[in-house]
Amino acid sequence: MPKFVQSSIDEVLRRCDLPEIASSYMQLRRNGTDFVGLCPFHREKTPSFHISADKQLFYCFGCGSGGNLIDFIKKIENLDFVDTIRFLAERSGVTLEEEVYSPEVQKKHDERERIYKMNKLAAKKYVANLPGEDAKHAQEYAKGRGLTRDIITKYGIGFAKESWSDMCDYLRENVFENDEIVTAGLAVRNEKGHVYDKFRNRLMFPVIDVRGNVIAFSGRALDDSPAKYMNSPETPVFHKGDNLFGLNVAKQYGIKDGLILVEGNMDAVSLNTFGFPNAVAGLGTALTENQASLLKRYSSMVYVCYDGDEAGQKAAAKAIDILSAAGVKLKVLSYTGAKDPDEFLRKKGVESFKAVMASALTATEYKIMKVRQSYNLVSSQDKADFIDKAAEILAENPNPVEREIYIKRIAKETDISVASIAAQVNKIIHSKNRKEFKKAEREAKTVPGMPQKTPRAGVMPQAASTASYKTERMLLNLMFFSNPAFRVAKAELTPEEFSTDTHRALFEAMLSFKSEGESCDASLFFSTLPDELKTYAADILYKEYIGDAVVAIKDNIGKIKKQKLTERINQLAAEGRLSEINELIKKENERRNNRD
Ligand code: CTP
Ligand code: MN
Repeated sequence: MPKFVQSSIDEVLRRCDLPEIASSYMQLRRNGTDFVGLCPFHREKTPSFHISADKQLFYCFGCGSGGNLIDFIKKIENLDFVDTIRFLAERSGVTLEEEVYSPEVQKKHDERERIYKMNKLAAKKYVANLPGEDAKHAQEYAKGRGLTRDIITKYGIGFAKESWSDMCDYLRENVFENDEIVTAGLAVRNEKGHVYDKFRNRLMFPVIDVRGNVIAFSGRALDDSPAKYMNSPETPVFHKGDNLFGLNVAKQYGIKDGLILVEGNMDAVSLNTFGFPNAVAGLGTALTENQASLLKRYSSMVYVCYDGDEAGQKAAAKAIDILSAAGVKLKVLSYTGAKDPDEFLRKKGVESFKAVMASALTATEYKIMKVRQSYNLVSSQDKADFIDKAAEILAENPNPVEREIYIKRIAKETDISVASIAAQVNKIIHSKNRKEFKKAEREAKTVPGMPQKTPRAGVMPQAASTASYKTERMLLNLMFFSNPAFRVAKAELTPEEFSTDTHRALFEAMLSFKSEGESCDASLFFSTLPDELKTYAADILYKEYIGDAVVAIKDNIGKIKKQKLTERINQLAAEGRLSEINELIKKENERRNNRD
């Protein structure tokens, strides 16, 4: 992993504009020098996501996420730091300068590079194995599953021989060591220390990331053996929940129209065979948030098309919730007469599948349909129960027009009046709103606000008394944006005088950031901060204190000192050390006289 020279990172930040870039991901409304919109990082109905154009910072008063442009892109594009910098550098035309690697970074980097190389070799070998004499049964199997030569090539599908050492021997010939082969997940070491091939007698699907690296393998058994699939374990280059099978192939085609999300590798491959190259599979895990953001990054619409059995439908319901929470637009494909999309296409053909696509359901429609299946709408009790359940689902939908459409449909179907169903839905919405309002009120009461806005609950570090918490936050704001105030704070305060670890850490970070050059650039400051401080920092620096900063900071320093002094005096008094108390008070008076 390269490390970029700080000055080139700073240059990237200087050339990019956060509101401008953010507005390509979300709707932003101008509000003075601020921009406001619905937070892309959590689900909300009223906007609490703010961007300060002059500070180049964002902060969400709802979920507390905050930071500079780098943090924003990292989160929304689901990229690591290095790729974020590359992404932005490309956008802004900055040539990045790389630093010399530190030994441990170099070592990790080398390890990953070796695994990529080994995986590529292994993938090629699996591909070369498939046409072999000893692979007749695999060829038969592939043919039986409708895999054409063309599709086999597209996905790089191969064959792992029925051997304990075929792959290991080959990799060792190519000067890879046993330890590395095991780390890459291509071999397993048993209790006796013997190393043998992990994948044996299987049809091999390489998992390839969007950059074209072979990151893992998924091996399908060639018969009905209970271990249908065997997958690579977690390795330095593979985290199951972060990847999707087939995205590399899908990406080469137009996927702007949408991605089809299926459960099985076989389904994705099969869809492609039938002319839908935009299919991806979840690698056998329940859909994760990271996979959802990956989907969001590559496509504006996801068609969820899971297996038809109960397990598949349950998984689909979960996937729908995760996708909605991630802000992914989705539709659900609902079909009958086949266990999965692969079988559906083979049995009913492309036209039928196109019809299923055309009549895809919205998340709300799908959920209501699922609920309806468990009621017999001829019975009045069932009818009432169904409407209760449906109303719950409708109340989750923030769009009043859509709600009305569905209410009308349900009214027609159940022969219950639109007014009664609407009343039921509204009751739930109101009670939810009331709860949320009460919660917001409670939070506003327990957490003091500074400078103008109220931070979300949970932002306030523990153990701080409310008063010193507030004072310290203001002080940090003042010293960051005003250099005269900074000099006062630097001269008069020590980190120990802060009441929480977070404030102490921020004070120290500001001292070292500002000590050279006294920069007030919050965005640059953020790229020096560790992630765990960013929420606090965004909350504190989001607004700038207006007024005489030096007067204000002296006042705050006075309060902090006084608080410390009071604590110390109480402690000394409890121990009966009265002369020391006098001494302390004398010193403090001297300090004040000297300063003013
Ligand atoms: N899976 C797995 N281990 C298993 C079964 C399944 O890792 N024992 C994962 C695989 O990634 C598989 C996905 O879950 O692709 C979905 O499972 P399934 O529908 O059973 O697999 P298909 O790929 O559809 O295979 P087939 O059509 O041959 O049944
Ligand atoms: Mn399947």
